[in-house]
Amino acid sequence: MAGGNAGAAAAAAARLVFSFMGLLVPLLVAGDDPYRFFTWTVTYGDIYPLGVKQQGILINNQFPGPQIEAVTNDNLIINVFNKLNEPFLLSWSGLQQRRNSFEDGVAGTTCPIPPGGNFTYIMQAKDQIGTYYYFPSLAFHKAAGGFGGIRVLSRPQIPVPFPPPAADYTVLIGDWYKANHTDLRYMLDSGKALGFPDGLLINGRSWNGYTFTVEPGRTYRFRISNVGLATSLNIRFQGHTMKLVEVEGSHTMQTTYSSLDVHLGQSYSVLLTADQPGFDYAVVVSTRFTTKIISTTAVLHYTNSAGKAPGPLPGGPTIQIDWSLNQARSIRWNLTASGPRPNPQGSYHYGLVPVTRTIRLANSAAIINGKQRYAVNSVSYVSPDTPLKVADYYKIGGVFSVGTIADSPSYGSAYLQTSVMGANYRDYVEVVFENNEDEVQSWHIDGYAFWVVGMDGGKWSPASRQGYNLRDGVSRYTVQVYPRSWTAIYMPLDNVGMWNVRSENWARQYLGQQFYLRVWTPSTSFRDEYPIPKNALLCGRAAGRRTRPL
Ligand SMILES: *[C@@H]1O[C@H](CO)[C@@H](O)[C@H](O)[C@H]1NC(C)=O
Ligand SMILES: *[C@@H]1O[C@H](CO)[C@@H](O)[C@H](O)[C@H]1NC(C)=O
Ligand SMILES: *[C@@H]1O[C@H](CO)[C@@H](O)[C@H](O)[C@H]1NC(C)=O
Repeated sequence: MAGGNAGAAAAAAARLVFSFMGLLVPLLVAGDDPYRFFTWTVTYGDIYPLGVKQQGILINNQFPGPQIEAVTNDNLIINVFNKLNEPFLLSWSGLQQRRNSFEDGVAGTTCPIPPGGNFTYIMQAKDQIGTYYYFPSLAFHKAAGGFGGIRVLSRPQIPVPFPPPAADYTVLIGDWYKANHTDLRYMLDSGKALGFPDGLLINGRSWNGYTFTVEPGRTYRFRISNVGLATSLNIRFQGHTMKLVEVEGSHTMQTTYSSLDVHLGQSYSVLLTADQPGFDYAVVVSTRFTTKIISTTAVLHYTNSAGKAPGPLPGGPTIQIDWSLNQARSIRWNLTASGPRPNPQGSYHYGLVPVTRTIRLANSAAIINGKQRYAVNSVSYVSPDTPLKVADYYKIGGVFSVGTIADSPSYGSAYLQTSVMGANYRDYVEVVFENNEDEVQSWHIDGYAFWVVGMDGGKWSPASRQGYNLRDGVSRYTVQVYPRSWTAIYMPLDNVGMWNVRSENWARQYLGQQFYLRVWTPSTSFRDEYPIPKNALLCGRAAGRRTRPL
């Protein structure tokens, strides 16, 4: 029951469209695209995901939160009421917020919704399809829930490269701690490590707590996202294989896998055909690259089930990195399939566009002022008192400086800074993520999808380019970097704004492994970037400013 207001929606829609028109002036060009309205109330509530009572963050009383279902180009109008006792924001992982980083809902772009307050996000799933999710971005709220699935379906006239599935299931997998988000945050603030997660969840439930029902002979889509905090995961279905069809908005070559690695923040769609004898099969999720392996299960229930399927639970890879690297390399873009538009995905030849700039980003762990921190190119990010984007809009000085993080690693000692990298609209950048640590990394860039052109062990050098896949790498928004390895991406800077580049390992993100990329143009045209929303909350040094003339 997405939105929780479905019953009143029909009557309210016309009135709401009218009242929101004032907020939507720059979006009027998109006036033909449908509007979907959601009213969400965020509260604390008791949840028992691992059998012990915890204060979860609920959205409309749900954990995980309600699902957003949209079609390409739909306008999403989401009014979020914060009933927590602390500031709150939702962010929308993978929704590109084209020309509109004000709506991105991270600390660097959007003022927090104060306790008791509300804020209406006005977004558009512009030129997008695929599997995404939302999550609470401030403090350490993500450890308490507040996340949910987003699916953007193709418009009816656009061909999808597989028949419509019998049902489309969201599978939010992730690790979980029994300690609550304030205690976890306190541990990080006082320089302690979080330690190993206490368990894994599938759609908010532990062992056999969640059931996916299938009818014999039919084919289902499972949209799998890793919404956890600390660990890469592997997923597999007892007795079944998965056909990969989509990765973060790209239709893939439909390769069959018996198990799939899903790194922090990543999303995959697979098709599963219920072609086995009627039983209850296990859906197994387990941790990857950890010395201690933990796992959990959900149930794949056939409507003609004769009970629990015989045989052991399917085993999966545990610490094997080469296995994962090979699987990652086997994931290819289907060049002839349509994406959000009718023309084939491969009609954009990402490998033929000249690179105008190379950015090399090296992660590191460092002790700063006696505490554990994490850094990128030696800078450990600290949040300013005013969102960067808001300060930029009002030209408030002293909040940040462009150029406070270098284009390549210096390997010097790490320091604290509000790091913002400047970049020019329409540049075409190569970004190389260099991981000199023993821990797998997962990097996400807001506002963009990018092509993964290469990944390998060892150190990257210009010669590594000879091995790039310049033809059919997938376009996605979150990519892993294996231990002591590198990953390279190509990204057209076609979206003006202030964009968060972050680790999806949530302790690392919280402790500074992130920065903002300011994609800038001298143009002030709405065609390049929308002005601040009229309903924007204003905070910090922007408090008391006016948004725009009404
Ligand atoms: C978290 O747990 C601590 C006790 O360990 C408690 O004092 C605090 O109020 C809890 N916070 C939330 C948000 O539940
Ligand atoms: C808060 O919700 C009201 C409707 O209840 C809406 O009119 C208003 O624009 C919302 N506030 C913000 C800042 O979006
Ligand atoms: C690629 O997409 C086309 C649809 O254009 C489809 O017919 C074909 O089967 C797909 N190829 C693979 C290997 O998935």
